Amino acid sequence: MAKKIIQQIQAEVFDYSELNSNEKALVDEAKGMLDQAYAPYSKFHVGAAVLLESGVIVKGSNQENAAYPSGLCAERVAIFSAGSNYPKADIKKIAIVAKPLGANDFVMASSCGNCRQAMMEYESKQKKPIQLLFVQPNDKILKTTVGDLLPFGFDSKSLNG
Ligand code: THU
Repeated sequence: MAKKIIQQIQAEVFDYSELNSNEKALVDEAKGMLDQAYAPYSKFHVGAAVLLESGVIVKGSNQENAAYPSGLCAERVAIFSAGSNYPKADIKKIAIVAKPLGANDFVMASSCGNCRQAMMEYESKQKKPIQLLFVQPNDKILKTTVGDLLPFGFDSKSLNG
């Protein structure tokens, strides 16, 4: 008889006004990166802001390429920058926001599979969850963690058996 596994994931939706001041600042920094995106092909602008334990914020925006797969999502631009500039710092939170060029409101970019995998590497490296703040339309904020976004993920524990 097959054993059924039911794994629960958790997420909460808040209004921007309900965030604490650190979270508001982080979301604002991510929004500020929308204009810095280099997205001439998709015209889908994404900004990400990473909050380190120290309070430092590291930012990124999506960077596209005429050879499409050579581009990189905002999340990975930001976390790789954090990982290379602050290799010992733990990541507390990441805010992610997206807006198609010319649109009036944000759309939720819930992070592609590659970004989930890359974010999970840092979560397992620091052995502490990373909270994610996704901006949704009407300035709602979906809060979850990397682990919730990537159940049954592959990490260093999988390699070691
Ligand atoms: N993109 C991100 O930067 N983050 C996401 O979570 C989803 C997608 C970028 C990649 C590409 O530059 C554009 O958005 C369209 O996929």
